[in-house]
This record gives sequence, structure tokens and C-alpha cells, in this order.
Amino acid sequence: MEVNEIDYPKFFDLVSRRYSCRGYDEAPVSREMLMAIVETARLAQSACNKQPWKFLVIGEPELRREVAGCYGRDWAGEAQAFIVALGNSSEAWVRPCDGHNGMDVDVAIACENMCLAATSLGLGACWIGNFDVDALRRVLDVPAEWSPVAILSIGYPKPSQPVPEKKRKNIDEVVKWGKF
Ligand SMILES: Cc1cc2nc3c(=O)[nH]c(=O)nc-3n(C[C@H](O)[C@H](O)[C@H](O)COP(=O)(O)O)c2cc1C
Repeated sequence: MEVNEIDYPKFFDLVSRRYSCRGYDEAPVSREMLMAIVETARLAQSACNKQPWKFLVIGEPELRREVAGCYGRDWAGEAQAFIVALGNSSEAWVRPCDGHNGMDVDVAIACENMCLAATSLGLGACWIGNFDVDALRRVLDVPAEWSPVAILSIGYPKPSQPVPEKKRKNIDEVVKWGKF
């Protein structure tokens, strides 16, 4: 490779090191780090640049407990912060040919930026999608037009927690050069 021969290995390393962290130690995560993470969500691409998102940063212990309760796994209670990603379908780009709403995709891109940012800062993060949506709405006063898409749990990885093995399909199963 001639172009980006410095950047690509670093980027690949970051992508490879990101994993779903499901055990956190008690060290607090600074406001500056959380700001640095959400800044990467703000800069994410979105269809037609609609940016149909908002991010609720939850650091306060009582509210953290309530958010963790909307998911209900013990390990989530160890997280030192949550970032709740909300999307608004009426603000998102809609594909004219079939009416497909781009909100989920846009918010997902922002969330992946944040997972990678957390990794780059030495933090662990886990994307949580299997939460009780109505309970989360109530806990965080989310208005009807905003949909909770993901909860990201964040904290310093517990040293005793093993990093899970990456299980992925083989490249030949998922990539085709040319037609299907
Ligand atoms: C949309 C989405 C929803 C997810 N929801 C959950 C969840 O509710 N609980 C959980 O423990 N992990 C959840 N994950 C994490 C996946 O299980 C994880 O990314 C996958 O097993 C691959 O492992 P890795 O992230 O460690 O590479 C979710 C990931 C995505 C992208």
C-alpha cells in the first residue's frame, strides 16, 4: 500500500481491539472523556446530513442505576456511564423509491463511532439493544417523537474480565467481488 500506510494499521488495530465489554471496574470516567466520545457521534455521517439524533449522557449514579434497570443484567450495573442514542424518524432522510427511513442507520453509524472512540481512550463499551424501551422512555423522559435506538455502557474494563474471542464469518462468506 502506498497511501495511508501509516493510518490503516492504526485504524485496523483500533477496530480489532473494540469488543463488547461486559465488566467494568469502579474507576470513574471523566466528563472530558465522555465529551470526547460524544464528539465523534456529532461528527458522524448521516443520510442527506440530517443528523436525526440526540445523545443522553448518564453519569449520575442514581440515574445510572435506573438506566441499568431497563436492561436488567448485573454487569450493566457496573458501567460508570451510559450514552443513550435517540433517533427521530421525522427528522431523517427517507428514500423516495421505497419510503425507507434512514434513522436507524444514521444513529448506528454515530454509535459505532462512539464505541471506537471509547476503545481508543482505553475504555470498554457495549452496545445494548435488548432493553425495555418503554421503561427507558419513562426513566429519561424521552418524548414520543424520539426513539431510543441503543444504550452504550461505558467504563474501564475490569482487569479480571476476559476479552471475548472474536467470532466472525470467513471473508469468503461475506464478500463477493462483483455480482451476488
Ligand atoms: C444492534 C446491536 C445490539 C446489541 N445488543 C446487545 C445487548 O442487548 N446485549 C449485549 O450484551 N450485547 C449486545 N450487542 C453486542 C453484540 O452481542 C456483539 O457486538 C457481538 O456479539 C460481537 O461481539 P464483539 O462486539 O465483542 O465483537 C449488540 C450489538 C449490536 C450491534
